[in-house]
Parts: sequence; structure tokens; C-alpha cells
Amino acid sequence: MAYSKLVFDIATEKLNLRRNSALNMADYRKSEIHKAIPRIAEIERELSSFGISAAKAVLNGKDAVAELNSLKENNLALQNELKTLLTSNGYSEDYLEPHFVCDKCDDTGYIELDNKTITCECYKKLLSETACDELNKISPLSLSTFDSFNLDYYSETPDDKGRVPYKRMSQIYDYCLNYAKTFTDKSKSLLMKGETGLGKTHLSLAIANEVISKGYSVVYVSAPDILSKLEREHFSYSYSKEHEIMQSLLECDLLIIDDLGTEFITQFTSAAVYNLFNSRISSGKPVIINTNLGVKELEDIYSQRFVSRAKAACAVLDFLGTDIRFIK
Ligand SMILES: Nc1ncnc2c1ncn2[C@@H]1O[C@H](COP(=O)(O)OP(=O)(O)OP(=O)(O)O)[C@@H](O)[C@H]1O
Ligand SMILES: [Mg+2]
Ligand SMILES: [Zn+2]
Repeated sequence: MAYSKLVFDIATEKLNLRRNSALNMADYRKSEIHKAIPRIAEIERELSSFGISAAKAVLNGKDAVAELNSLKENNLALQNELKTLLTSNGYSEDYLEPHFVCDKCDDTGYIELDNKTITCECYKKLLSETACDELNKISPLSLSTFDSFNLDYYSETPDDKGRVPYKRMSQIYDYCLNYAKTFTDKSKSLLMKGETGLGKTHLSLAIANEVISKGYSVVYVSAPDILSKLEREHFSYSYSKEHEIMQSLLECDLLIIDDLGTEFITQFTSAAVYNLFNSRISSGKPVIINTNLGVKELEDIYSQRFVSRAKAACAVLDFLGTDIRFIK
């Protein structure tokens, strides 16, 4: 699971906020209790001097063991007194402890297991939720689901080439649904082609929804947006920023490039599309590309090499029908 730097930063910030707020709340409760039950402040002072006393006992040598044991007993008695004071005053035993959202990792996001540091489930969940939120900012994911995709919009009457839109789109729908349900970070890539308003964006977001809920990272970009960003960074020589954007496009489990061909086409952008696509395909990572362009136009803009690689690496889905924005 690799998330874009932005998603990673936002999720980490949220996690830190959780942890700090648990610690702050515990501090707040502590000062409240110190006022209400002053004896507790005393006990805490005594408890915190335990370490120093223990070190002294060891340094003194003589009877260190006996002294340590008596210190430990004293320590235990103090802890019990503290708990009793809390409960007899109507507080819970752990009232002074920080209450973390996740008690497995204390909101640090990581767990030590068999001498290894592993990412806690709560942090994985936070990352995936954040990725989803970021995607939602671009397009409301909740609206573009498999459930809200209605096949009745596609005509059962054959077109002039004898193709039946309803039949074609049913197959595409089934293909996409199965693709999403069985998605892994080694899945095939998809090329969604077709006229405007036929549901390419809708179905690719439906896939994104499903794939994110399986815990994979998805980055959705519109071609004009991301390519102009890359070009700007490139020609302002801010290579680290350009590199950072490329990194998130290359590392995510699924990259969706929407509206390919609607960008302002330059030598830089057509090369960038080729390189991006090529790098992902070479490392076996799936991409979904959506475009209004036909094969000939794709070849003219992005080279024959690009198109032949795309055809080899992608399942090509040819959308058919009448503009659904218009019908709606
Ligand atoms: N089969 C469908 N059922 C319900 N709503 C649909 C369907 N197909 C498309 N829509 C809706 O119609 C609108 C246009 O669809 P969408 O944006 O997916 O088309 P597109 O193929 O991506 O078009 P473009 O090439 O212009 O980007 C969207 O609001 C989408 O949610
Ligand atoms: Mg679209
Ligand atoms: Zn956790």
C-alpha cells in the first residue's frame, strides 16, 4: 500500500492530533483531580521519586535487595491507595491515564511485534479513509457507484454498425464490477474509450470506491489538471516537486487518469503521458485511462508506441450509447 505524499501527510497529521488530544485530556483530568483530591498529587510525587530511591538503594550496595523490595512494596501500596481514592470519589481507576482511540498502538500508528515494527490497523484505516476523502473532493464518490449505474440509459436498438449499446454496456458493467471485486495491485490495466457522457468517469469512480474499501490506495487525476501541474513544475525547475508528484502517481496501487486528450497538448505532456504509462506498466501496476479519443488520434498525439503498448497491456472497453448528461 503506497499512498501519495499528500494523503500520507494528512493521515499522519490526524493521527498526531488524536494522540496529542488524548495526552492533553489526560493532563487536564490530572490537574482537575489534583485540585479535588490533593492527596493524589502527593502520591504521584512519591511514585515518581521511586526510580531515584531505587537507584540510590542499588548504589548504596548494602542490603540493596531488601531495600528494593521494601520500595516496591511501598510503590504498590501507593498505587493501590491512588486507585482506591479515585474509585471512592466516583472516578474510574484509569481516570488519569490517557484514553487513546486505539489501545493497540496508543495512537502512534505502529506496533512492535516479534521485534518488528508493523503498521497498526487503525493507521491503515485512517490512510484509506483519507485517500477516499481526497478523491471525494474532486468528485463525489458516493454518487458514482455500481449501484447508481443504470443500464436502462443504453438503447437496445442496434446502431448503424449493428452494435447494441445496452448489450455492450452490460458487458462493460459486468467486467468493471468483477474487476473491482477481484482487484489486486497486479490487476490488468483498463482503457475506457468512447464519446462524452457515456459513464466512463462514473464507472472508474465506482471501481475506485470498491478498491479503496478493500484497503488499496487509489489516485484519481484528470489529465489536463495533472499534466499542467507537472509541466509547470518542470519548467520552473522545481524538480523535487515534479518528482514528488510523479512518485505519488507511480506508487499508488491504482492510478486513474481521466479525460486523457483534453489537456493542452505539448511535446512535454505527450512524453509525460507515455513515460507515466510505461513506468506503471513496466512495474506491473494497473492504470485506468479514460478518453474520448479514437485509436488514430491517440497514435497521432502520444505515438504509435504508446498505443501499441496500451493495447497490449489494457483491456479496452469501448463505451457505446447516447450522452447520458443529455438524457438526464
Ligand atoms: N449508466 C449510468 N447510470 C446513471 N448515471 C450515469 C450513467 N452513466 C453516466 N451517468 C451519469 O451521467 C453523467 C455523465 O457521465 P460520466 O461523467 O461518467 O461520462 P463520461 O463518459 O466520463 O463523459 P466524458 O467523456 O465527457 O468525461 C454523470 O453525472 C454520471 O454520473
Ligand atoms: Mg469523464
Ligand atoms: Zn492503532
